[in-house]
Formats: sequence, C-alpha cells, structure tokens
Amino acid sequence: MALVNENYLKLPGSYLFSEIARRINQFKATNPEADIIRLGIGDVTRPLPPAVIEAMHKGVEEMGKAETFRGYGPEQGYEFLIEKIIEHDFTPRGVELSVDEVFISDGAKSDTANFQELFGVNNIMAVTDPVYPVYVDSNVMAGRTGMYDSDKGQYGKIVYLPCTEANGMKPSLPKTRVDMIYLCFPNNPTGMTLSKDELKQWVNYARENRSILLFDAAYEGYIREEGVPHSIFEIEGAREVAVEFRSFSKTAGFTGTRCAYTIVPKDVKVYDSKGEAYSLNQLWLRRQTTKFNGVSYPVQVAAAAVFSEEGQRQIKETINYYMENARIIREGLQAAGYTVFGGINAPYIWMKTPNTMGSWEFFDKLMTNAHVIGTPGAGFGANGEGYFRLTAFGTRENTLQAIERIKTRM
Ligand code: MLT
Repeated sequence: MALVNENYLKLPGSYLFSEIARRINQFKATNPEADIIRLGIGDVTRPLPPAVIEAMHKGVEEMGKAETFRGYGPEQGYEFLIEKIIEHDFTPRGVELSVDEVFISDGAKSDTANFQELFGVNNIMAVTDPVYPVYVDSNVMAGRTGMYDSDKGQYGKIVYLPCTEANGMKPSLPKTRVDMIYLCFPNNPTGMTLSKDELKQWVNYARENRSILLFDAAYEGYIREEGVPHSIFEIEGAREVAVEFRSFSKTAGFTGTRCAYTIVPKDVKVYDSKGEAYSLNQLWLRRQTTKFNGVSYPVQVAAAAVFSEEGQRQIKETINYYMENARIIREGLQAAGYTVFGGINAPYIWMKTPNTMGSWEFFDKLMTNAHVIGTPGAGFGANGEGYFRLTAFGTRENTLQAIERIKTRM
C-alpha cells in the first residue's frame, strides 16, 4: 500500500490562483456572455521584446545545425548569460559576484519553492503576512509548518510577521528566534518596499542569529524611486546570510517562456547539529545538478538579449507601460474613495475592501457586478483579509475599462 505524504493533507483547498481560475470558469459557465477582465494573477500581457525574439530565433537555428547543436547544458546555466546578469544587475550597484554564485533556472516560483529542501525540517520559518503563498505551501509539503488552524488561517509552527496599515505594511523583526526568513520586496502582494536602513536590520538580525534570508526580488525592475535597494546584496554583510531570487518573467515578459536566476553567495553557511558549517552554494549546486537539467539553450540566448542595448530599451518601455497602468488603477481607486497601497515601485495595487467586506466576498461581487477579476487578500494570509490585489499587467484598454466599471458598478 502506497502511503501518502501526509504533509500534503495539511494544505487547505487548492493553490490560490487555481481556486480563482476555478471560480472564473464556474461563473463563465453560467454567464457565457460576460466580458471578463482579468487583473488577478500577475501574468503579463505585452509580447516578448523584439530583441528577445530575434535572439531566440538564432538560438533555435543553431539547434537545427550539427555544428552548432547543443545537448545538455550546464545545470546551473550558460556562462554567457550569467556574465551578463552580473555585469548589468549587480556590478553597477557595487555588488561583486562570481559566476558560480548565480544559478539559472526555469522560474522564481520553482526556486523559492525548492530552496527550502536544503534546510532541516525543524527550522523555524518566518513569513510576512500577507505573503506569496508558494513560500508557505512548499514548506507545508516539507513538513516544517505544523497543522493549519482554520480559525486563525495560519499554521501552528510558522512565525507570521504582520504587514498591516498600522505598521505601513512593513514587517517588524520577529520577537522569537527564527531560522529561515522569507522577504519579498518590492512586495507581492502589497507593492510596498523597504529602505536600505530597514533591510539592514534584517541582515543584522540574520547575522546575529545565524538565520538565512530568502529574498525574493522578482519585482525589482519596477522600482521607480531613488534610494530603494534593488538587491539585498547592496546591504553590507548580506553575502553571509542571504539568497536572492530574480526572474525574467515580470521584467521581460517570460511568464510563458520561463527563465529566472538565484544568487547563492559562497559565504552563506548552514550548520549541522554539531555546529559544523556547510556552504549553501555547494548544497544548491548539488541539488540542482541532481534534480534539474537546465533551461533550454534558445531561452537562455533569448534571456541574454534582454541585456543588449535594444533589449534594455524595449523592456523599459514595457515596464513603463505597466507602471502607467498601475498609476491609472491607484489614482482611479483613490478618486473612487478606496484606500490603496503599492503601485509606485511595484506592479501590484493593494486596496482595502469597502465597509470591511471580506476579501472573497469582494471578489465575488466584483466578478458578478463588474466582470473584473482580482485576487482576494485573504488568499495571501490572515492579515490579507479585508484587502484585495489588482495587477497592473493587463492591457491599457482593459485597465481603463476595469477602473471605469469599479467606479460605476460597485
Ligand atoms: C502572482 O500573481 O502573485 C504571481 O503571478 C504568481 C507567480 O509569479 O507565480
């Protein structure tokens, strides 16, 4: 008899975005004529930049000729891409990295989900609340979180760091010792950022407690304001305690193409029960070489083209397009009397539901009355209840239309 991994049974319901898709399909079955606007899952709508497409074509052509064909690539990614990442994303910010500290992968979602495998099951983990659900669900699957308390909407062994209106959506340091800390800035879902001084407190905490910061920077390309750190490694000492996840998905339209990268400095250490230190970089390399065979060659060639002069110009245009959507949503909602956060350095707008309405109730009302889809804040954690997330990744036309409908039909 095959026994189930009982940790999976601790997960309530389905994955957040699958549940939303289910509700939309149900609604469409009974309302086939409804013209639905999707501002729920953060999926991009602009096509891949021309420079990326051109490079991808070249990569595909190379695969079709015996002289240039490539089979298995290096599991951690081709150096031509890694070198460009270091040169463009890190060196200009004063961050020195070596080639073997950057790991190319098929997505920040899979990397943030998989990375926890390197840690003992008894580590105490901390997450912000609200939080991107992948960090929590992947740790549940691993058996690190205890049981789900459906009254609280929280797991018994996770330390939750509330991000509320009272603290400006910025997490405070944990009151009890934690070992693994997930941080995402610019934040999904609230769209808020941390300053260098604020991030420094987390680095200091991690150094004092020998904890690890798992820093998700998937939205760094959306930072507009000066002085907001783009990488945790801009903070002194972070090389000893942090891992950073980055992605081409939101910055260059790769959600359907799949390419991301994770930075694991060689200075980061984890310990065994006797206190002996191990290199996290070596462990991640061991994990990736065993379980992953790399991102396809044409996709890595395409990703490298993001860093060409035209590639950079083209992705900036796209990011500006989405950030104009963010402004339209933010200012439109404010004008309609809603309280909103984010949307300045991030493609997400976090709004308070009217009259303390539950977030799933607001989801249903918005879908039924306005045919607009967003993401219920409660899906991101207990402190997301009473909030709602809209993404700026829609088309301009749909974004304008959605705000108009919210103003007139809600
Ligand atoms: C989101 O909507 O939060 C993101 O699109 C999910 C993801 O990137 O996996």
